[in-house]
Amino acid sequence: MGELIKSENNNVEVGSVLESQLNDLLNGQFGRAKKIVFVDENTHENCWPYLLTNFEALKEAEVIVLPTGEENKTMEVCFQVWQALSEYKIKRSDLIINLGGGVVTDMGGFIASIYKRGLAFINIPTTLLAMVDAAVGGKTGVNLLPWKNQLGTFTLPAFTFCDPIFLATLPDKEVESGKAEMIKHGLIADAALYNELKQKDTFTTTKSIFSAIQIKARIVDLDPKESGERKKLNFGHTVGHAIEGLCHQEHIDVTHGECVAWGMIVESRLSGMMGLLNSQEVENIVSSLISRYGTPPLERKAIDALIELMYQDKKNNSEQLNCTLLTAIGNAKIDGQIEEGQMRVVLDDLLKK
Ligand SMILES: NC(=O)c1ccc[n+]([C@@H]2O[C@H](COP(=O)([O-])OP(=O)(O)OC[C@H]3O[C@@H](n4cnc5c(N)ncnc54)[C@H](O)[C@@H]3O)[C@@H](O)[C@H]2O)c1
Repeated sequence: MGELIKSENNNVEVGSVLESQLNDLLNGQFGRAKKIVFVDENTHENCWPYLLTNFEALKEAEVIVLPTGEENKTMEVCFQVWQALSEYKIKRSDLIINLGGGVVTDMGGFIASIYKRGLAFINIPTTLLAMVDAAVGGKTGVNLLPWKNQLGTFTLPAFTFCDPIFLATLPDKEVESGKAEMIKHGLIADAALYNELKQKDTFTTTKSIFSAIQIKARIVDLDPKESGERKKLNFGHTVGHAIEGLCHQEHIDVTHGECVAWGMIVESRLSGMMGLLNSQEVENIVSSLISRYGTPPLERKAIDALIELMYQDKKNNSEQLNCTLLTAIGNAKIDGQIEEGQMRVVLDDLLKK
C-alpha cells in the first residue's frame, strides 16, 4: 500500500497504484458498478493502457475521450458527455474514473457531480499539478471563458490515487507547471518544504508529492467550502487566473502553473509593498520564480484587461481587489485588500513595454 494522507475529507493514497486500494475498491465497494473512464487524448494514449493491463475490473469499462486542453474545459463538452452517459444508461450507482490532468479531474468531477444529482468518482491524476492540487479537495468545475472555473461544485472524490509513474510521459513544461503549485504550498504553509524544493529540486519524489498534498488536505479539512482558511490556497491566483484567462482569450500558450508563478511574483511584491513580508523574502521568492518561469508573455497595454478580469473573479467584489498575501515564507494572510493603483504599479514593473 502507498502512503495514506491523514485527512477527514480527502481519501488520498500516494505511491504505486498497483499496490494501492484501487483494486479492492473496484472489486468491492464498486464491484457491481459500471465503470466509465474519462481520459483526454494524451492520457488515453499514455496512461490508460497501464490501467487496462493491470486492472481486470476495468476490462469492460466505457472509455470517454475528452478533448485535450484548458480551452475545452467547457459546458459544451459537458453537455455532450451527459448525453453519452444517458445513452449508455449510466445509473447513479455507477462509477466514474477521471484519469488525467486537472482539466480531466475538474471537468470529470463536475460532470459526475451534476449527472443524476451526483455519481461517485475516483481521481487518478496524471500530471504533477493535478496530483498535488487539482485532484484533491473537491473543487470541480469548468470555465466560462475568459472566466476561469466560473461554474462548478464542491464535490469530493471517493478516492484519489497519486502514482508518480504517470509523470514519466509528462512533457517538461507540464512538470514545471506542477512545481509552481508545490512552491505555493511551501510558501503559504511550510518554509522547510519551500527551501527543500528550491535547493534540492525533489519535486517529483513520492515524499515531496505527499508533503504537498498533506498541506492542501489539512487546509481543506479546516475549511472545505472556502469561507476562510482555504483562501490561503489562492495565493498567486487572483493575478494568475487573470493572466491565464487573458492569454487563453488571445490564444497565447501558457500553463496554469506558469500563470500561478507570475501571480505569486506580483502578490509577493504586493505583500512587501504593504509591509507584511520583509524585502529579503520578497527578493528570495521573486528572483527564484523569475529564474524558473521568466515573465508573462503580455505587454503593459494588457494591464487594463487584467484588472477588469480580476474585478470579475469570484474571489473579488467590484469595489476592491482581493489577494491572499504572505506574512513570511511559510505563512499566508487571506483577504488582503489591494488598491487598484498598487496593483497597476506591480504589474507595470513585471510586464514588457
Ligand atoms: N480543482 C482544483 O482545486 C484545481 C486546483 C488547481 C488547478 N486546477 C485546474 O487544473 C487545470 C490544470 O491542470 P493540468 O496542468 O494538469 O492541465 P491538463 O489537464 O490540461 O494537462 C496538461 C497537459 O498534459 C497532458 N497530460 C496529462 N497527463 C499526461 C501524462 N501522464 N503524459 C503525457 N501527457 C499528459 C494533458 O493531455 C495536457 O495536454 C486547470 O484547469 C486548473 O484550473 C484545479
